[in-house]
Amino acid sequence: MNTKQNLNLTLKIWRQKNNRTKGRFEIYKISDVSTESSFLEMMDMLNANLIDQNLEPIAFDHDCREGICGMCSLYINGRAHGPDTGIATCQLHMRMFHDGQTIVIEPFRSTAFPVIKDLIVDRSSFDRIMAAGGFISVNTSGNTLDANSILVDKEDADKAMDAAACISGGACVACCPNGAAMLFVGAKVSHLALLPQGKVEAKRRVLNMVKAMDDEGFGNCSVIGACEVECPKHISLDNIARMNREYMSAWLDK
Ligand code: SF4
Ligand code: FES
Repeated sequence: MNTKQNLNLTLKIWRQKNNRTKGRFEIYKISDVSTESSFLEMMDMLNANLIDQNLEPIAFDHDCREGICGMCSLYINGRAHGPDTGIATCQLHMRMFHDGQTIVIEPFRSTAFPVIKDLIVDRSSFDRIMAAGGFISVNTSGNTLDANSILVDKEDADKAMDAAACISGGACVACCPNGAAMLFVGAKVSHLALLPQGKVEAKRRVLNMVKAMDDEGFGNCSVIGACEVECPKHISLDNIARMNREYMSAWLDK
């Protein structure tokens, strides 16, 4: 890891007009990048340089820039979200790189995440899986039971909170050789199934979300475990096991 300095870098970046055209890597040089800047600030610098030269800037996704929204889906030097662990691309700092380095930047690649442009992919497949069951139905008639009056086991509450940390970015899919989305779906199924409010619809939820996942073309889990390693929120493989148990129990009850 570097102390403060300015870096001169070579960037090999995937450019693609849209999902119907073939993409290619293009090479860009960038100089005087502070090791104190973030990776996305470096991308901003590059785009400012391109605009100054009347060239088309590179399209990449970002929103919160603080590890919350899951939008910053970049594959950097062969790893989802780059060389650091437990962070999203927006939390990656240039001190993780060294002067003279070549950095390869690609979109998250998966059949279920088609490229929209350059480094931006369409992850609406995740939205459709959530719409299939990633919610609870609440009686809002005015007779709703106060949530604080429902006791929740501390261990279950902790596990539900850990699963709810998933930011739906899709690093798990991008790094999985099967293109599986089971860590994402496992986290979403688990965080609701563990809580009393989520148990009412638990069986219908897991059946519908797993069906939606299969319909979107995601692959099957073969317990390689790359998803857990590359997940910016350290979502545990235990969530996949819990989803499988929930699914089996719901399927037997059909
Ligand atoms: S499980 Fe982890 S890698 Fe997968 S979408 Fe959620 S936060 Fe991202
Ligand atoms: S931009 Fe929101 S998590 Fe990175």
